[in-house]
Amino acid sequence: AQTGLQKGHSWRATVAFSALKCGSFASLKSPNEKIGRLFRYSKVGFPFWLESFCRCVFVDIIRHHPTSCGDSFHRFLCWCVPHAAIHPCIKWLPFPILPSKKLPDMLKITTFAIQKTTPKEIQHRMGKIILTGDRPTGKLHLGHYVGSLRRRVQLQNAGDYERMFVFMADVQALTDNADNPEKIRQNMMEVALDYLAAGLNPEKCTLFVQSQIPELAELTTYLMNLITVSRVQRNPTVKTEIKMRNFEANIPLGFFCYPVSQAADIALFKATTVPAGEDQEPMIEQLEVTRELVRRFNQTYGEVLVEPAIMLPENATARRLPGTDGKEKMSKSLGNCIYLSDSAEEVWQKVRSMYTDPTHLNVSDPGHVEGNAVFTYLDAFSTDDDFAEFWPEFKNLDELKAAYTAGGIGDMKCKKLLNNVINKMLEPMRVRRHELEQDIPEIYNILKKGSEAAREVGAATMDEVRKAMRIDYFNDAELIRQQAEKFKAK
Ligand code: TRP
Repeated sequence: AQTGLQKGHSWRATVAFSALKCGSFASLKSPNEKIGRLFRYSKVGFPFWLESFCRCVFVDIIRHHPTSCGDSFHRFLCWCVPHAAIHPCIKWLPFPILPSKKLPDMLKITTFAIQKTTPKEIQHRMGKIILTGDRPTGKLHLGHYVGSLRRRVQLQNAGDYERMFVFMADVQALTDNADNPEKIRQNMMEVALDYLAAGLNPEKCTLFVQSQIPELAELTTYLMNLITVSRVQRNPTVKTEIKMRNFEANIPLGFFCYPVSQAADIALFKATTVPAGEDQEPMIEQLEVTRELVRRFNQTYGEVLVEPAIMLPENATARRLPGTDGKEKMSKSLGNCIYLSDSAEEVWQKVRSMYTDPTHLNVSDPGHVEGNAVFTYLDAFSTDDDFAEFWPEFKNLDELKAAYTAGGIGDMKCKKLLNNVINKMLEPMRVRRHELEQDIPEIYNILKKGSEAAREVGAATMDEVRKAMRIDYFNDAELIRQQAEKFKAK
């Protein structure tokens, strides 16, 4: 029987070998069933890991090996070896050793696989954990979409990661909405619908709610010991946010500490990659807080947590989409948003009154595309296909820009194009949202399941954290024995 996780090659060999000895995998119907008996694992996302792992590491080995032991065994093996080796949420439990006729052949495969799969390779392919979230303080708009949601959906569908978490940061939202919990409660569902309508798929990505993971609060508490008040005070993010909220001398302590709580969000899940929009430019600095805290934790208590890296949006427009009024930023408080859930009619009302080029008074006048919100949006959203479909006179945006700059192109025509482009993008989301809205209890169910799965991962990390911090008293038989001796000897 195996207990606990260790790093390294030889250990991995043992694990795979022991799993083999469990026998009868050749007739495995559902790998889930058997694996469930072997170890605790996180259910959400399992088939997905399986799939992506098979694709990237084991497929060749299996294909080329002369022995056929049944597809499901292979799949089981493919899944269990790398995940047992690197995934923190898997715990080995004692299991019986059953004889298997096919054992010798299987063993060959296993050994081969182990030789092929160095820890480094596995880390590279499978160690990527993506995590990101939003405060549920309002519906999501186009700025969120280009800034991060679109990227998340792409990342999710590309599958080039071990696991992906997206969460609603309701705890963080409460740090400056303590007296208005109803606002958070209402917007939770809006954001969940926006996520799902935009294409986040709970089969592939764990959607969870921050407040439902008490381990986050626990880790926050311990991380707070590793950072000073002045370090947080100097953080530009905190400075700007305090100013924005007019807290002045009355900063809620919870709000002040939210960079630490955010570090815990990232560290608890051992996230390696945090996609974040530049509407949260400060995030970079906060991630510095995160990185520093992770480093300090690991230096102080031993290597448990993982240093993350931020993943910024691809380009400048995606980083900061201006509002429909041309102001620097699309933001609810400025009332210049197009929401993902807006109807076609609402979108047109907003696009029609968009800020363009104030010097472009007559159609024949030369126009300016810089600072012209319509063109910034076209930059962010239009494709060559859109031109073919909606304005075939031009092949692409560059051609339209050239013509507009030369003069002779009316703003209304550009707005109609933009309206078509946005509605074409939003229409499938509207349809999906409408479907989702028919079964709201199911959405809560998705969030509940996701939160449970996330909690399992969090609990596993906290076990490691407590052990590293020497506060795992009741799990440490050696400690109990030593203490007993010490006091007996008195
Ligand atoms: N600060 C983010 C926002 O304002 C939400 C958030 C909380 C977050 N914790 C996080 C984002 C961790 C990325 C990673 O929306």
